[in-house]
Amino acid sequence: MSMVDNEKINVRGFETVGDIAIISLPIQLNARQLKQIKSKAREILKHKHINTVLLKCQKVGGKIRTASYMWLAGQRKTQTVHKENGCIMHVDLAKVYFSARLSSERLFIAQDIVKHIKSKKSKYRKASIAVLFCGIAPYALVLARQLKLNKINATIECVDINAYAIKLAKINVKLNGFNNINVVRGDVKNITRLFRKKFDFVLALRPQTDYDFIKEVLSITKKHGIVYYRDFVNAVELGKLKQQIVEKAKTCGFNVKVLSIRKAGQIKPRFWRVLVKMVKL
Ligand SMILES: C[S@@+](CC[C@H](N)C(=O)[O-])C[C@H]1O[C@@H](n2cnc3c(N)ncnc32)[C@H](O)[C@@H]1O
Repeated sequence: MSMVDNEKINVRGFETVGDIAIISLPIQLNARQLKQIKSKAREILKHKHINTVLLKCQKVGGKIRTASYMWLAGQRKTQTVHKENGCIMHVDLAKVYFSARLSSERLFIAQDIVKHIKSKKSKYRKASIAVLFCGIAPYALVLARQLKLNKINATIECVDINAYAIKLAKINVKLNGFNNINVVRGDVKNITRLFRKKFDFVLALRPQTDYDFIKEVLSITKKHGIVYYRDFVNAVELGKLKQQIVEKAKTCGFNVKVLSIRKAGQIKPRFWRVLVKMVKL
């Protein structure tokens, strides 16, 4: 973080999670700037559905990918109920990772899986789906809803290392009335001990850490199974990513074909979160 002393703070927008508005600023604020931002927060509080305004003080970090927040205005809380893609989710911003900005990616993956299952040449009649790094289960919920709308019979197994995220994920599954989602706490590094079967579809929206989890992900994917894999790359790495993933999979003893790479949000200048779709051969 850099210190910008006498600059006027320009709040371009805010993210909304349930009834909480989140302002993110890539700088540390001095007392004058904090006063200015609190006055902006009181303005945001006038929005009909906002009851709390928080400042995201730190980027997500650590194993469970949580950020820290400073209260700015309204009710002093970090927990809320968020609605997205027809699903309801309990979230506690201080205790779990959650990004409302990924809602369109969630719908994209869910609809893509439905398309695969419904295609004439489908090999996935009774599909089994794993959602690794599930957090509070937003991907699993949106997927289960799309499967239900399309009258598709499939089972979803979710795993995350964060006990509190698992607690909320279980509440969220019940709240949305899905009986085909199972949620367990565990470390994906021990995935073959957690799941003794292989899956047709694996969602691996992994955290931004040095460990890539490719071996674990592919070891629970069936032959012809499809993986939606999260990666983080700069402009130079992006061009080489396809080849890199194929080579990395090979060193782990697997053959894959990368079907597509989609940008899923810019993290900093010329550095992206991407969604890699691949098939295990
Ligand atoms: C970037 S978050 C994604 C959460 C969720 N997919 C979402 O978008 O809301 C990464 C998640 O991975 C979990 N995690 C990190 N390391 C893990 C591991 N080794 N095994 C299982 N989960 C892990 C964290 O607790 C966190 O919930």
